[in-house]
Amino acid sequence: MDKKIAVIRGDGIGPEIVGEALQVLDDVAKLYGHEFTYDDVDMGGCAIDKWGDPLPQEMLDKCVASDSVLLGAVGGPKWNDVPGPMRPEKGLLRLRAGMGVYSNNRPAKIWPQLAAASPLSPAIVEKGIDFIIVRELIGGIYFGKHETVEENGELKAIDELTYTESEIERIGRIGFETARKRNKQLCSVEKSNVLDSSRLWKKVMHKLAEEYPDVILTDMLVDNCAMQIVKNPSQFDVIVTENMFGDILSDEASMITGSIGMIPSSSLGSSSCGLYEPIHGSAPDIAGTDIANPIGTILSAAMMLKYSFDMPKEADCIEKAVSAVLDAGYRTADIMPTDVEEAQKCVKIGCKEMGKQIRLHLRKEK
Ligand code: IPM
Ligand code: MG
Repeated sequence: MDKKIAVIRGDGIGPEIVGEALQVLDDVAKLYGHEFTYDDVDMGGCAIDKWGDPLPQEMLDKCVASDSVLLGAVGGPKWNDVPGPMRPEKGLLRLRAGMGVYSNNRPAKIWPQLAAASPLSPAIVEKGIDFIIVRELIGGIYFGKHETVEENGELKAIDELTYTESEIERIGRIGFETARKRNKQLCSVEKSNVLDSSRLWKKVMHKLAEEYPDVILTDMLVDNCAMQIVKNPSQFDVIVTENMFGDILSDEASMITGSIGMIPSSSLGSSSCGLYEPIHGSAPDIAGTDIANPIGTILSAAMMLKYSFDMPKEADCIEKAVSAVLDAGYRTADIMPTDVEEAQKCVKIGCKEMGKQIRLHLRKEK
């Protein structure tokens, strides 16, 4: 199959990790007889520097016209003083909205090889960590009115949070469908003891539940959920939640699996053209030093193959190669065990070498 992939290398470690993922995709294409072509797209800080805009319209057009988008990471201290609407992150938000990708899927799954890297106690980790956060991605407080006004001689900042029934319903359906394909347990997370938008969220979820009698729906307040994720993560199968709660909980969930550097994500809307990105940021402090972990991006490319290109075998091959490399003891700095004895059994490698090892194993896993 021929597929056109829009590639956003972005800022910080973005270019390094995306470079490794593209080489993995090239090898997969050769092994399975596909052709992937890449269309480079400027977004984020680098686009501000080059075009004075974090996402120029023609860049968004390229993404929308592609078969899918692979993104590294955007942002960094260099653009900290740029005004709100021109910030690198704004490019990402405009991309998500412009592509209409309302459903962000963030798996929190522990790799058995990395159990020792989890900050949770072994007794909790042993019970298993394998859940998915379905995060609403193009609504809520991220997309409400943002303004700072002067009132009574001081500044006042306003961020508006709205959700309509239809916005909640479409993400709710993804939550139920995802749970249906797994262990049929959906936890809807909100703050209905305080927020109107959460009360509507809860109401819509329960109405939808009537259409999915095979799925068990539970409700959880977001603060309690943050606690339960570290106390007893094995209770979760699928969590569905609004944009900002999903942002926060997915960072927490990633950390208990060992490292945020391992976690991929997919964002989809009503077409098969998706946006695939690791959930970590641009880590400007380690950019250019070859110590970043490219696995989150490589696994995001695997998700692209599976969810947008209908290539499950190819995706599986990448996942198995990653697992084999971890079995062989190769670790980037972020996933090195903290225990000295455990660390001696591992080989610390950089970003490029990690990409290379994964590519070497692709052939064996096919
Ligand atoms: C994420 C990031 C983004 C978000 C930022 C960079 C705007 O934290 O993808 O989780 O908040 O959605
Ligand atoms: Mg985040």
